[in-house]
Amino acid sequence: MLLGHAQGEPVLLARRGDELFAIGAICTHYGAPLEMGLLVGDTVRCPWHHACFSLRTGAALRAPALDPVSRWRVEEVRDLARQFTSVEQRVGAVYVREKLESAAPHSHSPTAGTPESVVIVGGGAAGNAAAETLRREGYAGRITMLSADGSLPCDRPNLSKGYLAGAASEESNLLRPARFYKEHDIDLRLGARVAAIDIGSGRVELADGSRHAYGTLLLATGADPVWLDVPGGDLPHVHYLRTLTDSRALVSKALALRRAVVIGASFIGLEVAASLRARNVDVHVVGPEKIPMEKILGPELGNFIRRLHEDHGVTFHLGMTALSIDPTSVTLKNGETLQADLVVVGIGVQPAISLAERAGLAIDRGVRVDEYLETSAPGIFAAGDIARWPDRLTGKPVRVEHFVVAERQGQTAARNILGRRERFDAVPFFWTEQYDLGIAYVGHAERWDKVEIDGRLEARDCTITYRRGGKKLAVAVIHRDLEGLRAEVDFERAIATTEERARLLG
Ligand SMILES: Cc1cc2nc3c(=O)[nH]c(=O)nc-3n(C[C@H](O)[C@H](O)[C@H](O)COP(=O)(O)OP(=O)(O)OC[C@H]3O[C@@H](n4cnc5c(N)ncnc54)[C@H](O)[C@@H]3O)c2cc1C
Ligand code: FES
Repeated sequence: MLLGHAQGEPVLLARRGDELFAIGAICTHYGAPLEMGLLVGDTVRCPWHHACFSLRTGAALRAPALDPVSRWRVEEVRDLARQFTSVEQRVGAVYVREKLESAAPHSHSPTAGTPESVVIVGGGAAGNAAAETLRREGYAGRITMLSADGSLPCDRPNLSKGYLAGAASEESNLLRPARFYKEHDIDLRLGARVAAIDIGSGRVELADGSRHAYGTLLLATGADPVWLDVPGGDLPHVHYLRTLTDSRALVSKALALRRAVVIGASFIGLEVAASLRARNVDVHVVGPEKIPMEKILGPELGNFIRRLHEDHGVTFHLGMTALSIDPTSVTLKNGETLQADLVVVGIGVQPAISLAERAGLAIDRGVRVDEYLETSAPGIFAAGDIARWPDRLTGKPVRVEHFVVAERQGQTAARNILGRRERFDAVPFFWTEQYDLGIAYVGHAERWDKVEIDGRLEARDCTITYRRGGKKLAVAVIHRDLEGLRAEVDFERAIATTEERARLLG
């Protein structure tokens, strides 16, 4: 890959075999430089959060990027050397010429199986990606998105990071502006909580008693924070963080208050701690584990993250839980009292499956789906935090709570709603950012028995591999984006069929 400029825009020039391509060089998700990414077949993978763009069309083939990059016509003039010199070598010149029109959206010809209408329950990562994909794939039927949230589909990862820290704008929270849904004829209803699904009559019933008929139904209800059940847990200064409204409330408190106790030392808790420190709030973190995030990331990385927070002024109370909360303090199990005018609880989430459960869908610590993301009821699909799907890498059913996975499942579910029969086999990916540290994690290691570190944590330059019984299950990287991308491709190859592998290799 080569980086250059055309008509004032950064352009990526890439060669695959005899073919040359020129596409926009900036990822449409958060603006990563694509020349630092990886070429895989006729695609380029983004170094930061692993979006995938087609070199041929510029299309964003996989989330988290939702918009295409531009593309340009490339002209190659070969064998110039023979025309002008006697040197016997193949040389030539490549010109990036005019910008090309974006590839037209697919046109979907309705078949016998195409639903007349699609109802999506949930206006989050999976629901939004599904609605967009249906339209991009040319679906012309009615799309209704029913969301219990009071705000438009939002970039949840931003809520505990840039937005809460004051580094990202209010606008950066929305996945799409309101006009997008109008322009794409997506009937998005906010504050619309679905109370029941009547599979027999093909209708959903909302909490306000209204009913909607569906041709096909997609459930993408996400997850709800686990409630902290202690005396004082419902006081007004005790906050949870799931929605944009939650994050806005935290921002306004963080502007006015100075002493926070964060209960929970996992991703949300620690990202909140880092963001509050960026706003100069005093932060104490309370968690039952001895080492933060040890279960997921291992002891070395967990200790490293702890030191990072301590270097930024956070005080930890580990191996400890909260006993009670009052308006000015939190009392711990050991009797210690921490002064707090703000308490943030991040002790995990549970999948929002009660709707599916009441409708009689098969449940297995999540909504059970097959490899096409279809539930036990034909014509009802599930995606995102609620879905437990058969993972081809481990051969076991898995459920994860990752933004990119939710979006990719929404995309796959949409295509399967249109009858594609596309297996969901994207390799799980998530990232976290705390202060200036970013960690990207590829794969899924619910349990591991060996952690190998290649490189140096302290130098923030390493690859951490998680194995079980010798088998590589997941890889985390710090400042080694390419290694993370290569690990993803290795996992993809490991689960691919021969035909898919050939496609991957280009
Ligand atoms: C603060 C925060 C930071 C995060 N950071 C990261 C990160 O850095 N990296 C990462 O990989 N993941 C991160 N995650 C996790 C990620 O955001 C989720 O995995 C992802 O949003 C799940 O998408 P989803 O569509 O399944 O659910 P959601 O995005 O939660 O959407 C669920 C939707 O369903 C609606 N809903 C629920 N019940 C009903 C009902 N009965 N009727 C109608 N609508 C209903 C909700 O209102 C909501 O609109 C973060 C999550 C949070 C909260
Ligand atoms: S910046 Fe490219 S995927 Fe996030």
